[in-house]
Amino acid sequence: MTTPHPQAANPLRAAQLSFVGVGVMAEAMIAGLLRRQLVSRGQIVGSHPRPARREELQTHYGIRMVESNRDAATHKASRSDATPTEDGGPSIVVLAIKPQRVGKVFQELKGALDESQLVLSIVAGARMETIANELEHPAVVRAMPNTPAQIGQGMTTWTATPQVTDRQLEEVRALLGALGREMHVENENMIDMATALSATGPTYIFMMMEALVDAGVHMGFSRHVSEELVIQTMLGSVLFARESHKHPAELRNMVTSPGGTSAEAIYQMEKGGLRTVLSKAVYAAYQRAVALGRK
Ligand SMILES: NC(=O)c1ccc[n+]([C@@H]2O[C@H](COP(=O)([O-])OP(=O)(O)OC[C@H]3O[C@@H](n4cnc5c(N)ncnc54)[C@H](OP(=O)(O)O)[C@@H]3O)[C@@H](O)[C@H]2O)c1
Repeated sequence: MTTPHPQAANPLRAAQLSFVGVGVMAEAMIAGLLRRQLVSRGQIVGSHPRPARREELQTHYGIRMVESNRDAATHKASRSDATPTEDGGPSIVVLAIKPQRVGKVFQELKGALDESQLVLSIVAGARMETIANELEHPAVVRAMPNTPAQIGQGMTTWTATPQVTDRQLEEVRALLGALGREMHVENENMIDMATALSATGPTYIFMMMEALVDAGVHMGFSRHVSEELVIQTMLGSVLFARESHKHPAELRNMVTSPGGTSAEAIYQMEKGGLRTVLSKAVYAAYQRAVALGRK
Protein backbone atom coordinates (compact mmCIF):
# COMPACT_ATOMS: atom_id res chain seq x y z
CA MET A 1 0.00 0.00 0.00
CA THR A 2 1.52 3.35 0.92
CA THR A 3 4.76 2.24 2.55
CA PRO A 4 7.87 2.82 0.48
CA HIS A 5 9.55 -0.32 -0.75
CA PRO A 6 13.07 -1.01 0.39
CA GLN A 7 15.32 -0.90 -2.67
CA ALA A 8 15.90 -4.67 -2.75
CA ALA A 9 12.17 -5.44 -2.71
CA ASN A 10 11.13 -2.61 -5.00
CA PRO A 11 9.14 -4.23 -7.84
CA LEU A 12 9.73 -1.17 -10.04
CA ARG A 13 13.52 -1.11 -9.80
CA ALA A 14 13.94 -2.45 -13.34
CA ALA A 15 10.76 -1.02 -14.86
CA GLN A 16 10.66 1.47 -17.70
CA LEU A 17 7.52 3.59 -17.45
CA SER A 18 5.74 5.43 -20.21
CA PHE A 19 2.98 7.97 -19.52
CA VAL A 20 0.72 8.78 -22.45
CA GLY A 21 -0.88 12.15 -21.64
CA VAL A 22 0.75 13.78 -18.63
CA GLY A 23 -1.98 15.87 -17.00
CA VAL A 24 -2.99 16.15 -13.36
CA MET A 25 -3.20 12.42 -12.56
CA ALA A 26 -0.10 11.24 -14.42
CA GLU A 27 1.88 14.09 -12.85
CA ALA A 28 0.67 13.04 -9.38
CA MET A 29 1.85 9.50 -10.13
CA ILE A 30 5.24 10.65 -11.42
CA ALA A 31 5.74 12.98 -8.43
CA GLY A 32 4.81 10.20 -5.98
CA LEU A 33 7.09 7.65 -7.64
CA LEU A 34 10.08 10.02 -7.61
CA ARG A 35 9.35 11.25 -4.05
CA ARG A 36 9.26 7.67 -2.77
CA GLN A 37 12.35 6.82 -4.85
CA LEU A 38 10.56 3.88 -6.41
CA VAL A 39 11.98 4.83 -9.80
CA SER A 40 14.65 7.19 -11.07
CA ARG A 41 14.00 9.98 -13.57
CA GLY A 42 15.70 7.94 -16.29
CA GLN A 43 13.04 5.23 -15.99
CA ILE A 44 10.25 7.61 -17.02
CA VAL A 45 9.20 8.89 -20.39
CA GLY A 46 6.04 10.88 -21.06
CA SER A 47 4.22 12.21 -24.09
CA HIS A 48 2.26 15.42 -24.47
CA PRO A 49 1.03 17.33 -27.52
CA ARG A 50 1.87 20.81 -26.12
CA PRO A 51 5.55 21.91 -26.20
CA ALA A 52 5.08 24.20 -23.16
CA ARG A 53 3.78 21.31 -21.06
CA ARG A 54 6.60 19.03 -22.23
CA GLU A 55 9.15 21.69 -21.28
CA GLU A 56 7.50 22.23 -17.88
CA LEU A 57 7.58 18.54 -16.96
CA GLN A 58 11.09 18.05 -18.31
CA THR A 59 12.39 20.99 -16.28
CA HIS A 60 10.51 20.20 -13.08
CA TYR A 61 11.05 16.44 -12.87
CA GLY A 62 14.01 15.88 -15.19
CA ILE A 63 12.04 13.21 -17.07
CA ARG A 64 12.15 12.68 -20.81
CA MET A 65 9.16 14.12 -22.68
CA VAL A 66 8.31 13.43 -26.32
CA GLU A 67 5.55 14.63 -28.63
CA SER A 68 4.54 11.30 -30.14
CA ASN A 69 2.42 8.96 -28.02
CA ARG A 70 3.58 6.05 -30.13
CA ASP A 71 7.24 6.87 -29.53
CA ALA A 72 6.63 7.14 -25.78
CA ALA A 73 4.90 3.75 -25.73
CA THR A 74 7.52 1.91 -27.78
CA HIS A 75 11.25 1.34 -27.74
CA LYS A 76 11.95 4.60 -29.57
CA ALA A 77 11.76 6.67 -26.41
CA SER A 78 13.69 4.30 -24.11
CA ARG A 79 16.92 5.38 -22.52
CA SER A 80 20.07 3.40 -22.17
CA ASP A 81 20.38 4.05 -18.41
CA ALA A 82 17.20 2.13 -17.54
CA THR A 83 16.54 -1.60 -17.72
CA PRO A 84 13.73 -1.92 -20.24
CA THR A 85 11.91 -4.98 -21.59
CA GLU A 86 13.78 -7.42 -23.82
CA ASP A 87 13.02 -5.42 -26.95
CA GLY A 88 13.99 -2.18 -25.22
CA GLY A 89 10.46 -0.77 -24.85
CA PRO A 90 8.74 0.56 -21.74
CA SER A 91 7.51 -2.27 -19.51
CA ILE A 92 4.39 -0.33 -18.43
CA VAL A 93 2.44 2.07 -20.62
CA VAL A 94 0.13 4.27 -18.54
CA LEU A 95 -2.85 5.73 -20.44
CA ALA A 96 -3.76 8.97 -18.64
CA ILE A 97 -5.60 10.98 -21.29
CA LYS A 98 -9.20 12.20 -20.97
CA PRO A 99 -11.92 9.77 -22.14
CA GLN A 100 -12.72 11.93 -25.18
CA ARG A 101 -9.12 11.58 -26.45
CA VAL A 102 -8.81 7.84 -25.97
CA GLY A 103 -10.10 6.90 -29.45
CA LYS A 104 -7.35 8.91 -31.15
CA VAL A 105 -4.69 7.44 -28.84
CA PHE A 106 -5.93 3.89 -29.58
CA GLN A 107 -5.42 4.57 -33.28
CA GLU A 108 -1.89 5.83 -32.65
CA LEU A 109 -0.87 2.86 -30.51
CA LYS A 110 -2.75 0.08 -32.31
CA GLY A 111 -0.51 -2.92 -32.88
CA ALA A 112 2.58 -1.06 -31.65
CA LEU A 113 3.00 -2.78 -28.29
CA ASP A 114 5.16 -5.78 -27.60
CA GLU A 115 3.55 -8.72 -25.76
CA SER A 116 5.89 -8.28 -22.77
CA GLN A 117 4.49 -4.79 -22.14
CA LEU A 118 1.60 -3.94 -19.81
CA VAL A 119 -1.05 -1.29 -20.45
CA LEU A 120 -2.32 0.47 -17.32
CA SER A 121 -5.32 2.67 -18.02
CA ILE A 122 -6.81 5.23 -15.63
CA VAL A 123 -9.19 6.53 -18.30
CA ALA A 124 -12.68 6.74 -16.76
CA GLY A 125 -15.21 4.50 -18.50
CA ALA A 126 -12.73 2.74 -20.83
CA ARG A 127 -13.38 -0.98 -20.39
CA MET A 128 -10.57 -3.53 -20.47
CA GLU A 129 -12.10 -5.47 -23.36
CA THR A 130 -12.25 -2.28 -25.45
CA ILE A 131 -8.66 -1.36 -24.59
CA ALA A 132 -7.39 -4.88 -25.37
CA ASN A 133 -9.29 -5.03 -28.68
CA GLU A 134 -8.40 -1.52 -29.79
CA LEU A 135 -4.70 -1.90 -29.00
CA GLU A 136 -4.53 -5.58 -30.01
CA HIS A 137 -2.86 -6.15 -26.68
CA PRO A 138 -4.27 -8.52 -24.04
CA ALA A 139 -2.31 -7.55 -20.88
CA VAL A 140 -4.36 -4.67 -19.45
CA VAL A 141 -4.93 -3.18 -16.00
CA ARG A 142 -7.77 -0.74 -15.39
CA ALA A 143 -7.48 1.57 -12.40
CA MET A 144 -9.78 4.17 -10.88
CA PRO A 145 -8.08 6.78 -8.67
CA ASN A 146 -9.63 9.84 -7.00
CA THR A 147 -8.57 13.47 -6.60
CA PRO A 148 -6.80 13.22 -3.19
CA ALA A 149 -4.21 11.24 -5.20
CA GLN A 150 -2.83 14.67 -6.09
CA ILE A 151 -1.42 14.91 -2.54
CA GLY A 152 -0.57 11.20 -2.22
CA GLN A 153 -3.77 10.47 -0.24
CA GLY A 154 -5.79 8.85 -2.98
CA MET A 155 -7.85 5.66 -3.00
CA THR A 156 -7.31 3.71 -6.19
CA THR A 157 -9.10 0.49 -7.13
CA TRP A 158 -7.80 -1.67 -9.97
CA THR A 159 -8.36 -4.93 -11.78
CA ALA A 160 -6.44 -6.88 -14.41
CA THR A 161 -6.99 -9.18 -17.38
CA PRO A 162 -5.85 -12.82 -16.91
CA GLN A 163 -2.85 -12.20 -19.20
CA VAL A 164 -1.19 -9.90 -16.64
CA THR A 165 1.65 -11.77 -14.94
CA ASP A 166 2.30 -11.96 -11.18
CA ARG A 167 5.39 -9.80 -11.61
CA GLN A 168 3.35 -7.17 -13.44
CA LEU A 169 0.67 -7.25 -10.69
CA GLU A 170 3.37 -6.41 -8.14
CA GLU A 171 4.64 -3.58 -10.34
CA VAL A 172 1.12 -2.17 -10.63
CA ARG A 173 0.63 -2.37 -6.87
CA ALA A 174 3.80 -0.31 -6.34
CA LEU A 175 2.97 2.14 -9.12
CA LEU A 176 -0.55 2.87 -7.86
CA GLY A 177 0.70 2.99 -4.27
CA ALA A 178 2.46 6.21 -5.32
CA LEU A 179 -1.00 7.84 -5.38
CA GLY A 180 -1.96 6.76 -1.84
CA ARG A 181 -3.79 3.53 -1.05
CA GLU A 182 -4.54 0.95 -3.71
CA MET A 183 -6.92 -2.00 -3.71
CA HIS A 184 -7.12 -4.86 -6.19
CA VAL A 185 -10.74 -5.77 -6.98
CA GLU A 186 -12.04 -8.89 -8.70
CA ASN A 187 -13.78 -7.47 -11.74
CA GLU A 188 -14.84 -4.38 -13.65
CA ASN A 189 -18.27 -4.21 -12.03
CA MET A 190 -16.41 -3.46 -8.82
CA ILE A 191 -14.53 -0.70 -10.64
CA ASP A 192 -17.93 0.82 -11.54
CA MET A 193 -19.00 0.46 -7.89
CA ALA A 194 -15.76 2.09 -6.70
CA THR A 195 -16.23 4.84 -9.29
CA ALA A 196 -19.45 5.71 -7.45
CA LEU A 197 -18.09 5.32 -3.92
CA SER A 198 -14.41 6.32 -3.84
CA ALA A 199 -13.73 8.08 -7.16
CA THR A 200 -16.90 10.19 -6.88
CA GLY A 201 -16.48 10.13 -3.09
CA PRO A 202 -14.76 13.52 -2.69
CA THR A 203 -17.90 15.10 -4.18
CA TYR A 204 -20.06 13.86 -1.28
CA ILE A 205 -17.49 14.94 1.28
CA PHE A 206 -16.88 18.38 -0.24
CA MET A 207 -20.60 19.06 -0.47
CA MET A 208 -21.09 18.15 3.20
CA MET A 209 -18.08 20.29 4.07
CA GLU A 210 -19.52 23.23 2.16
CA ALA A 211 -22.95 22.83 3.81
CA LEU A 212 -21.41 22.70 7.30
CA VAL A 213 -19.24 25.77 6.66
CA ASP A 214 -22.34 27.64 5.45
CA ALA A 215 -24.20 26.52 8.58
CA GLY A 216 -21.39 28.01 10.71
CA VAL A 217 -21.60 31.28 8.78
CA HIS A 218 -25.39 31.23 9.22
CA MET A 219 -24.89 31.17 13.01
CA GLY A 220 -22.46 34.08 12.84
CA PHE A 221 -18.91 32.67 12.49
CA SER A 222 -16.67 34.31 9.92
CA ARG A 223 -16.07 32.06 6.90
CA HIS A 224 -12.42 31.30 7.67
CA VAL A 225 -13.20 30.38 11.30
CA SER A 226 -16.07 28.17 10.19
CA GLU A 227 -13.84 26.50 7.56
CA GLU A 228 -11.15 25.71 10.11
CA LEU A 229 -13.65 24.29 12.60
CA VAL A 230 -15.27 22.10 9.94
CA ILE A 231 -12.12 20.85 8.21
CA GLN A 232 -10.35 19.87 11.42
CA THR A 233 -13.54 18.25 12.75
CA MET A 234 -13.92 16.19 9.57
CA LEU A 235 -10.24 15.24 9.48
CA GLY A 236 -10.17 14.35 13.18
CA SER A 237 -13.37 12.29 12.93
CA VAL A 238 -12.05 10.31 9.95
CA LEU A 239 -8.72 9.58 11.65
CA PHE A 240 -10.53 8.66 14.87
CA ALA A 241 -12.80 6.24 12.97
CA ARG A 242 -9.80 4.64 11.24
CA GLU A 243 -7.63 4.34 14.33
CA SER A 244 -10.32 3.23 16.79
CA HIS A 245 -11.63 0.49 14.42
CA LYS A 246 -15.09 1.15 15.86
CA HIS A 247 -18.30 1.09 13.82
CA PRO A 248 -19.42 4.65 12.91
CA ALA A 249 -22.73 4.09 14.74
CA GLU A 250 -20.80 3.27 17.93
CA LEU A 251 -18.69 6.42 17.59
CA ARG A 252 -21.83 8.45 17.01
CA ASN A 253 -23.56 6.92 20.02
CA MET A 254 -20.56 7.90 22.16
CA VAL A 255 -21.31 11.60 21.52
CA THR A 256 -25.10 11.34 21.70
CA SER A 257 -26.30 12.10 25.22
CA PRO A 258 -30.01 11.84 26.04
CA GLY A 259 -31.75 15.10 25.21
CA GLY A 260 -28.46 16.62 24.04
CA THR A 261 -27.30 18.55 20.97
CA SER A 262 -26.28 15.48 18.91
CA ALA A 263 -29.67 13.82 19.52
CA GLU A 264 -31.40 16.97 18.32
CA ALA A 265 -29.16 17.17 15.22
CA ILE A 266 -29.64 13.45 14.42
CA TYR A 267 -33.42 13.88 14.60
CA GLN A 268 -33.25 16.61 11.95
CA MET A 269 -30.82 14.67 9.71
CA GLU A 270 -33.07 11.58 9.77
CA LYS A 271 -36.15 13.71 9.17
CA GLY A 272 -34.42 15.31 6.17
CA GLY A 273 -33.53 11.87 4.78
CA LEU A 274 -29.73 12.39 4.80
CA ARG A 275 -28.92 8.65 4.68
CA THR A 276 -31.43 8.00 1.92
CA VAL A 277 -30.17 10.93 -0.13
CA LEU A 278 -26.55 9.73 0.18
CA SER A 279 -27.50 6.16 -0.69
CA LYS A 280 -29.48 7.32 -3.73
CA ALA A 281 -26.63 9.61 -4.82
CA VAL A 282 -24.09 6.76 -4.71
CA TYR A 283 -26.43 4.39 -6.55
CA ALA A 284 -27.16 7.01 -9.22
CA ALA A 285 -23.39 7.54 -9.69
CA TYR A 286 -22.96 3.75 -10.03
CA GLN A 287 -25.68 3.51 -12.70
CA ARG A 288 -24.05 6.43 -14.53
CA ALA A 289 -20.65 4.72 -14.41
CA VAL A 290 -22.17 1.54 -15.88
CA ALA A 291 -23.95 3.52 -18.61
CA LEU A 292 -20.78 5.47 -19.54
CA GLY A 293 -18.84 2.21 -19.82
CA ARG A 294 -21.38 0.89 -22.37
CA LYS A 295 -20.94 3.89 -24.73
N1 LIG B 1 -8.55 13.57 -11.87
C1 LIG B 1 -9.17 12.58 -11.22
O1 LIG B 1 -9.52 12.67 -10.05
C2 LIG B 1 -9.46 11.29 -11.92
C3 LIG B 1 -10.05 10.26 -11.19
C4 LIG B 1 -10.29 9.05 -11.84
C5 LIG B 1 -9.93 8.90 -13.16
N2 LIG B 1 -9.39 9.93 -13.84
C6 LIG B 1 -9.07 9.73 -15.25
O2 LIG B 1 -7.70 9.98 -15.46
C7 LIG B 1 -7.51 10.48 -16.78
C8 LIG B 1 -6.65 11.73 -16.69
O3 LIG B 1 -7.32 12.68 -15.88
P1 LIG B 1 -6.62 14.04 -15.48
O4 LIG B 1 -7.46 14.63 -14.41
O5 LIG B 1 -5.17 13.80 -15.26
O6 LIG B 1 -6.86 14.85 -16.85
P2 LIG B 1 -5.94 15.98 -17.51
O7 LIG B 1 -5.28 16.78 -16.45
O8 LIG B 1 -6.76 16.68 -18.53
O9 LIG B 1 -4.79 15.11 -18.24
C9 LIG B 1 -4.85 14.68 -19.56
C10 LIG B 1 -3.65 15.30 -20.30
O10 LIG B 1 -3.58 14.72 -21.60
C11 LIG B 1 -3.24 15.78 -22.49
N3 LIG B 1 -3.66 15.42 -23.86
C12 LIG B 1 -4.68 15.94 -24.60
N4 LIG B 1 -4.72 15.34 -25.80
C13 LIG B 1 -3.73 14.42 -25.82
C14 LIG B 1 -3.27 13.50 -26.80
N5 LIG B 1 -3.87 13.37 -27.98
N6 LIG B 1 -2.22 12.73 -26.47
C15 LIG B 1 -1.59 12.83 -25.26
N7 LIG B 1 -1.99 13.69 -24.31
C16 LIG B 1 -3.04 14.47 -24.58
C17 LIG B 1 -4.00 16.97 -21.96
O11 LIG B 1 -3.47 18.14 -22.50
P3 LIG B 1 -4.31 19.51 -22.52
O12 LIG B 1 -4.28 20.01 -21.11
O13 LIG B 1 -3.58 20.37 -23.47
O14 LIG B 1 -5.69 19.15 -22.98
C18 LIG B 1 -3.77 16.81 -20.47
O15 LIG B 1 -2.56 17.40 -20.05
C19 LIG B 1 -8.91 10.76 -17.34
O16 LIG B 1 -9.23 9.76 -18.28
C20 LIG B 1 -9.81 10.69 -16.17
O17 LIG B 1 -11.06 10.15 -16.52
C21 LIG B 1 -9.11 11.11 -13.25
